[in-house]
Amino acid sequence: MASPLPSKSDALYIGLMSGTSLDGVDAVLFDGQAVLGHVHAPFPPALRDELLALNAPGANELHRAALAANGIARSYADVTAQLLEATGHRREDITALGAHGQTVRHRPDGFDGYTTQLLNGALLAEQAGIDVVCDLRSRDVAAGGQGAPLVPAFHRAFFGVADRDVAALNLGGIANLSLLFTDGSTGGFDTGPANCLMDGWIARHRGLAFDADGAWAATGQVLPELLTVLLAESFFALAPPKSTGRDLFHLDWLDARLSPGQAPEDVQATLLELTARSAAEALKAQMPGATSLIACGGGARNGRLMQRLAELLPGVAITSSAELGLPVDQVEAAAFAWLAQCFKEKRPGNLPAVTGAAGLRILGALYPS
Ligand SMILES: Nc1ncnc2c1ncn2[C@@H]1O[C@H](COP(=O)(O)OP(=O)(O)OP(=O)(O)O)[C@@H](O)[C@H]1O
Ligand SMILES: [Mg+2]
Repeated sequence: MASPLPSKSDALYIGLMSGTSLDGVDAVLFDGQAVLGHVHAPFPPALRDELLALNAPGANELHRAALAANGIARSYADVTAQLLEATGHRREDITALGAHGQTVRHRPDGFDGYTTQLLNGALLAEQAGIDVVCDLRSRDVAAGGQGAPLVPAFHRAFFGVADRDVAALNLGGIANLSLLFTDGSTGGFDTGPANCLMDGWIARHRGLAFDADGAWAATGQVLPELLTVLLAESFFALAPPKSTGRDLFHLDWLDARLSPGQAPEDVQATLLELTARSAAEALKAQMPGATSLIACGGGARNGRLMQRLAELLPGVAITSSAELGLPVDQVEAAAFAWLAQCFKEKRPGNLPAVTGAAGLRILGALYPS
């Protein structure tokens, strides 16, 4: 069972999230029940490029990763200062920062099992002058879990209702689904890519960061043979618990599956269809009676993607998290503020039924201010 939302208190937390899309940092001010302010800041382009590069093996990685971790800490400190300014708070008002860091490797069940979120927590504590709770995934992995997704516990606390099963779909770089059953049980897993492949493909062919509203994808035709080849990836058929990242879903993965003569816009249409199809099939398989789906993450702004999801899921009412009081860009950051609160209150943040961990664990490590 997830921890219920704690009652609103004087304690304020800031959640700092930079996800696999690498679009930058979302920061929210959270009081235990609601988001009181939000700031988004893109990464400096050189840091973004380096983080993308560090997702694949390369030369002199330890040095480069350490510098990137410093860069992330500085970005997080900057956005924290902006958020304090925007909300009229001082750093003394904040109990802790819940800082995700940047995932550059996620291999919970390969090799010896690890997940790496780059962030120099010491530097962030030094610069922000606020307690930092970070490295929020490793303890779950140490307990035999996937370390991901961690947001289903927060989705349960925020979106769960007593009278019907509800699913929540976060469309970030990777897509993850939370299953909030009426009996109080909670499921959750990654369904595959959401935006990471579409973003990479449009960057390569059109020099754009993302396909706004899926407009470019909408000019193409889905390539059925390619879609079949992409959906044959064994990750899609794995039973939960499961999680993934750019370790698997990157442009080299796509390139290895393309055939000559495929038009770029048709490939984009097929990538959008892959996201919609893999998420819809996962929902149908794991929550067959679903009637309510809450969408969040930047992909919820992609009208074409939301249209395809609706077509693939007749009988499922799809709403935006914004309609429930939490704008789509704020959900993940709020979840990490909530996880920092769990840490401070010595409450577990993981759900063993979701991650596969051996038990409930208090997640994170503290760098005192
Ligand atoms: N208007 C839009 N139309 C289409 N796609 C959009 C739009 N706005 C944002 N996006 C997509 O959303 C992405 C950012 O989403 P988000 O910040 O939720 O992902 P993330 O950083 O990977 O987060 P997380 O890992 O926490 O889920 C962008 O990279 C882009 O692909
Ligand atoms: Mg993001």
